[in-house]
Amino acid sequence: MPLISKLPDVGTTIFTVMSQLAAEYGAINLSQGFPDFPVDGALREAVTAAMAAGHNQYAPMPGLPALREAIAAKFEVQHGVAVDPATEITVTAGATQALYTAIATVLHAGDEAIVLDPSYDSYAPAIVAQGAKAVRVNLSAPDFAVDWAAVEAVVTPHTRLVIVNNPNNPATSVFRAADLDALAAIAERHDLLVLADEVYEHLVFDGASHRSVLAHPALRQRSFAVYSFGKTFHATGWKIGYCVAPPALTAEFRKLHQFLVFSVNTPAQHALAAYLQQPAHWQQLPSFYQAKRDRLAAGLVSTGFRLLPSRGTYFQLADYSAIRSDLTDTEFARWLTVTHGVATIPVSAFYAAPPEARLVRFCFAKEVRTLDAALERLQGLG
Ligand SMILES: Cc1ncc(COP(=O)(O)O)c(C=O)c1O
Repeated sequence: MPLISKLPDVGTTIFTVMSQLAAEYGAINLSQGFPDFPVDGALREAVTAAMAAGHNQYAPMPGLPALREAIAAKFEVQHGVAVDPATEITVTAGATQALYTAIATVLHAGDEAIVLDPSYDSYAPAIVAQGAKAVRVNLSAPDFAVDWAAVEAVVTPHTRLVIVNNPNNPATSVFRAADLDALAAIAERHDLLVLADEVYEHLVFDGASHRSVLAHPALRQRSFAVYSFGKTFHATGWKIGYCVAPPALTAEFRKLHQFLVFSVNTPAQHALAAYLQQPAHWQQLPSFYQAKRDRLAAGLVSTGFRLLPSRGTYFQLADYSAIRSDLTDTEFARWLTVTHGVATIPVSAFYAAPPEARLVRFCFAKEVRTLDAALERLQGLG
C-alpha cells in the first residue's frame, strides 16, 4: 500500500546517535539532557502512596483539579500572575505533547510558523506534520540574541505562530524584558499567536529571574506557555507537563488533547499536586544547578575549550577551535566520544542551516562524580 511520509526528512536524531555511540564506546554521556541523579524520595513515595490509595483510573481530561490548582498557586507565588485552573491549564504527557498539541491547534495546511534556530528538535516536525511551513531565523554565538527586526521581516500573510524557547536549549540564553516587549509588538502588529517553551523556567542563574510570557500582559492574551515536570523535578521518564493559555485557546487545545491522549498518568498527578505545596521544592533549583554549572566550567577551563556564558538551562556550550579546528562539530563530537570517552551534542544539529561555528553542548544535569569523571578524561586535551 503506498504510504506518503508526512515527515520525509526526519531520520534518527543526533540525541539517539550520540547516546548509542556513548554506549558503544563506554563514554560518559553528557550529550542528552536528562539527570543521572534520583528523583526526590518524597515525590517517589507520593506516587506509590497514590497508587496504594487506589488512584489508578483515568484522570479528568484536562488534568486532576488538585494539580491544576497547585499549578495556579505556583504561578501566583512565582510571577504574581492569576491563572484559572478550570479554563486555562491542561496537564499533558510531557512538554513534547503540549508543544505538538498547541502547534496542531493553531496551524492549518499552508500556514507558516516562525522558529528561532537553534531550536529544540520537536518544533519543526510538528509544524510540517500539519502541512504548514517552518520559517527559520538564525541566532548566532556568542550571545544568541534575537534580532527582532529580522523576525518581523519574515512575517507573511500566512504567518500564524511564533515559537520561542526561554531559557533556550541549546543557546542557554535568557530573554530580557525588551525581548518580550519586542515579541509582543510583532505579535500584536501582525495578529500572531505565540508558543513559549518555558520548560527550563527554574534554571536561570547568577541571580537573574525568568520572564514568562504569562507575566507580560500583552503576551498573556495570545500565548500558549508550556512546562515540564520531568525537567523540573528530575523525572524526564515520567513524561508529564502542562500547557497554560487563555480560555479560548485552551478550549481548542483541549479538543485535540482529548483525542491525542485523553488524560495523563493519575498517580503522578496526585503526587505532584502534593509536592508543589512546598515552594522550596522548585525555589532551590537555580542554586542546585548553578553549582553543577560552575563545577563543570571550572574543570573545562584547563582543557582547551573556550566556554560561552551559560545563563540558563542545564547546558554549557563550549568552543573547541583550540583543540581540533580541522573538524566540524559533528566530527568533533564523534571524535571526543570515541577517543576521550565523553559524549556531547554538536550545536549545528539544532539548525536547519547552521552558521559557521565550532560548538558542542555539554549537559551538566549530572552527579558531581559523573562531571568529575568526565573532566578527568578531558584533561590534557588542549
Ligand atoms: C526545550 C525543550 N522543550 C521541551 C522538551 C521536552 O520536555 P518533556 O520531556 O517534558 O516532553 C525538552 C527536552 O529536552 C527541551 O529541551
